[in-house]
Amino acid sequence: MKDWKQDYNEKITTKEEALLHVNSGNRVVFGHAAGEPIILVDELVNQNNRLQDVEIVHMVPLRECKYCLPGMENHFRHNSLFSGAGTRRGISEGRSDYTPVFFSEIPRLFRDEILPVDVTLIQLSPPNEDGYLSFGISVDYTMQAAQSAKIVIAEVNKQMPRTWGSQIHVSEIDYIVETDRLLLEITPPEISSVEESIGRNIASLIPDKANLQLGIGAIPDAALSFLHEKQDLGIHTEMFSDGVVDLYNQGVVTNKYNNLNPGKFTATFLMGTRRLYDFVDDNPNVDMHPVDYTNNVMVAGRVNNLISINSAIQVDLFGQVCSDTIGYQQFSGVGGQVDFVRASSLSPGGKSIIAFPSTSKNGTISRIVPLLNEGACVTTSRNDVHYIITEYGIADLRGKTIRQRAKALISIAHPDFQDYLNQNYKKNI
Ligand code: COA
Repeated sequence: MKDWKQDYNEKITTKEEALLHVNSGNRVVFGHAAGEPIILVDELVNQNNRLQDVEIVHMVPLRECKYCLPGMENHFRHNSLFSGAGTRRGISEGRSDYTPVFFSEIPRLFRDEILPVDVTLIQLSPPNEDGYLSFGISVDYTMQAAQSAKIVIAEVNKQMPRTWGSQIHVSEIDYIVETDRLLLEITPPEISSVEESIGRNIASLIPDKANLQLGIGAIPDAALSFLHEKQDLGIHTEMFSDGVVDLYNQGVVTNKYNNLNPGKFTATFLMGTRRLYDFVDDNPNVDMHPVDYTNNVMVAGRVNNLISINSAIQVDLFGQVCSDTIGYQQFSGVGGQVDFVRASSLSPGGKSIIAFPSTSKNGTISRIVPLLNEGACVTTSRNDVHYIITEYGIADLRGKTIRQRAKALISIAHPDFQDYLNQNYKKNI
């Protein structure tokens, strides 16, 4: 059998040579968020003149997406699984597409060849002594995309942390491009006084020994800043960021009562600063798993006292939650929101929380509305919804009639909009 080191060395090539293996008409799936193999992606874009109709598939974009810009439409067609600043415009202007799909089900699209994968571009840590490379901060759908692809091209970045849980062997990779570059970083957001009030309300629902799923952004961070007095919290989530590291260092997060993976952080991707990336590097207490494990309701639903914390764009008086569209515009994606809303509903002692400021656009628009806007899509249905939180309080909608829900939601709307909502409620409900 070939020595893995020899195999590794024979697969090392330049980015220019590696990307020549993408052909017109191929479907190319690449890693996302801070795990995006940016050296490979930029080279793919550089080679646009020799390529036609290459479909590009990925989730969260953190950078400008040049393949979505005007003029690229004959070369690349982008198919977004979670829209962001770099991809939104292409979708609304018709150059790109969006595919609605739960995060937990993305690996299945590739495994079952609903979306057959020609080429996967991934970013990995350098190999260990047995020739295994870690998916680092982004395992999610990336691992399955690599397992399903005809060709796997890997950026092996010296600065990608080696994380425990999921890895790939050199023999499963076709071409390797070595790099030593900074990972993309997300700095913790500024927290406003409104977000602070929301964070305090969220924290009031979190008991000691709870296991948390957190999204990214000011609201989860605000909630974390009110958890210092809690004991023995655990993290079973799709992603986490720097705020959790502070709570771990303070002894608040111990993962002791995570009955499924005791003592372990369980996540599928990470976004934060270098501090977070150093924390997870070779840390046996952090398990990074594919998203069809972390977000699978049959798995996460078995975690006791699972509390999911997510956000929304609009909620109507029926309790329908819209989190990924603004009217007809595809703003983001469902991500893992519904996976975790449902998992926490199955979890013994579980709660799901959807939290957001009561208004947007400098207080001119209420985010609690009589009925979702035209074009807005339901992300979390009224049957799944549990707690809704704003800076004005907490509405517990589970088991409540439509009238009771409307009243509870109006009571946590911004006072400037409560009369308007009341009038609508009396007229229509
Ligand atoms: N009407 C019009 N615009 C609205 C609006 C409304 N009701 N609510 C929000 N917006 C606008 C804001 O003004 C802001 O616009 P800007 O970017 O031009 O400033 C934008 O939408 C984002 O609002 P904000 O409240 O700052 O968003 P956020 O960064 O806190 O993210 C979600 C909130 C809902 C978009 C985000 O959590 C999400 O995408 N959720 C779905 C996926 C998910 O939950 N995944 C699981 C965890 S990772």
